[in-house]
Amino acid sequence: MQSSGSYASKRVYIETFGCQMNENDSDRVRSLLTSIGYVETQVPENSELILLNTCTVRDKAEQKVYSLLGRFRKLKSERPSLVIAVLGCVAQQQGVELLKRVPFLDMVVGPQNLHRLGDLIETVKDGSERVVATEQSETIEADEYTAPASVDGPKAFVPIMRGCNNFCSYCIVPYTRGREVSRGAAEIVGEISGMVFRGVKEVTLIGQNVNSYAPFRPRETEPYTDFAGLLEEVACIDGLERIRFVTSHPKDISKRLIRLFGSEPKIVSSLHLPVQSGSDRILELMGRGYTASEYLSKVKLLKNASRGISLSSDIIVGFPGETDKDFAATMALIEEVRYDNLFSFKYSPRPGTRAALFEEQVEAEVASERLQILQKRQREISAENSMALKGSYIEVLVEGPSKGDSEEKSGRTPCNRVVNFSDLPDFNVEVGDLVELLITDVYPNSLRGTYHERGLLCS
Ligand code: SAH
Ligand code: SF4
Ligand code: F3S
Repeated sequence: MQSSGSYASKRVYIETFGCQMNENDSDRVRSLLTSIGYVETQVPENSELILLNTCTVRDKAEQKVYSLLGRFRKLKSERPSLVIAVLGCVAQQQGVELLKRVPFLDMVVGPQNLHRLGDLIETVKDGSERVVATEQSETIEADEYTAPASVDGPKAFVPIMRGCNNFCSYCIVPYTRGREVSRGAAEIVGEISGMVFRGVKEVTLIGQNVNSYAPFRPRETEPYTDFAGLLEEVACIDGLERIRFVTSHPKDISKRLIRLFGSEPKIVSSLHLPVQSGSDRILELMGRGYTASEYLSKVKLLKNASRGISLSSDIIVGFPGETDKDFAATMALIEEVRYDNLFSFKYSPRPGTRAALFEEQVEAEVASERLQILQKRQREISAENSMALKGSYIEVLVEGPSKGDSEEKSGRTPCNRVVNFSDLPDFNVEVGDLVELLITDVYPNSLRGTYHERGLLCS
C-alpha cells in the first residue's frame, strides 16, 4: 500500500480469516483504503484503524475473532481515537449483537457493504457514533467491485459471483453471503485483461459455487453465458496462460465444463470438487443433491477428459447421525478417487442452520478419532501421488525466489504443488515465466525440479 493525500499519517492494520472470498475482499478493501490515503501496518499498536475480516464457517473460526478483540480492548482504552471494525461473515451473522457484546467496537460491516467503508469510517471517527452495515441486496451494486484487488506477482483472484443458494444443512455461508448474484462477463473479462496488462499470467475465478454462474440479462436479446461460456471467453484473453476456479459444486458441474478440461489448454488440470461425505444417507441429510456414485461418475468423466487431473476435496466428519458405516463409505470414496489434497473438518453446529437442530449429534471424541484416521490415510495417498510425479516433466509458473534459498527459484505446478529449482547459468528465468522441469525429488510439502534437454522455456 502506498501513502498519498491528506490522510498520509493514517495506518491500517488488517487481519483476514476464512476463505478466498474473504482474502479477496480484504485485497479490495486495501485498494480502497489506499485510494483515500491509508498505509498498511503489520503492527496493530501503531495503527489508527484495525480491521478484522472474519469467518464463521466453524465455531473455532468465530472464537478466534473474540479472543483477538479481547487483545485490542486495552489499545482502545489507551487511545480512544483508534477505530476498530469487524468485517465479513461474523459481522453479517451477528450484526448489532456484536456491538452489544463488544462495547469498544466502532463498526460492524457485512461482506456486501465493504465498498462503503470510506464513508463509514468518516461516520465513526470522532467517536460519537457506532455503525452496523449489514444490508443485503439481490443485485450487485454498481460500485461494489470498483476497487479491484491490487496485482502483486503473476497470480490473481477474481470474484465472478457472490452468495450461495444451496443451503446445505450444515452451512452458514448462504446466511452470511446472501443470495447468488453473478457479475457480468464483460466486466470480468475487462478486469482480467487489465491484470494481464500488469503482468498476471494465472487467474483463479472465485465464488462459493462457480458452476451456477448466471449473469443477469437486462434484455432477452443479450447472449446467454453460463460458467463454461465464461471460461471460454476468459481463455481468449491474450497473454493469460492459466485459468483456475474455485469452488465447484459437484451437482452443478456440467459435461460441457468437464469437456473443457480436455479441450482448453489454459484451463489448469486441477479441480477442487468438495464431496463432504461418501455416504448417500449423510449426503441426503446434508442436502448436497448428489449420491456418492453420481459424484464418482463425474470424477471418472473428469479423469477421462484430462489424464492425470489433480483433484482435491472437502470432507466433514462427525455430521449428526454419522455411523461407523457412513464413515467407512467416506474412507472407501477417498480410496477410489485418490485426491491429491483433502481439507477435512470436524462438523461444527452453526446457529440457524438446519443441521444444528438434528438430534444424534456425534460425540466429539468419535469425530476426532474419525478425523485422525481420515487425515492419516490421506497423507499417505497424497505422498504416493506426489512420488508418482518423480521423473515426469511438469510445467511450472515461476513465482519468485525459493523460500528456503534465495539463490533458487520457486514456482507452482498445475496441481498447485511448490517446485524449487536452480536457475540455469545463462538462462535468467523471470517471475511469470512458464518453464518445463523434470521432477527429481519429492518432499512432503514441495518438489524439486531441474532443467533437462526438454527443459526449454515455454514462454
Ligand atoms: N462453497 C464451498 C465451500 C463452503 S465452506 C462448497 O460448497 O464446497 C468450505 C468448507 O467448510 C465446506 O466445503 C465444508 O467442508 C466446510 N464446512 C462448512 N460448514 C461446516 C460446518 N458447519 N462444520 C464443519 N465444516 C463445515
Ligand atoms: Fe455452504 Fe453448500 Fe453453499 Fe458450499 S454450496 S457455501 S457448503 S451452502
Ligand atoms: Fe468463512 Fe464467510 Fe468464507 S463464513 S468460509 S469467510 S464465506
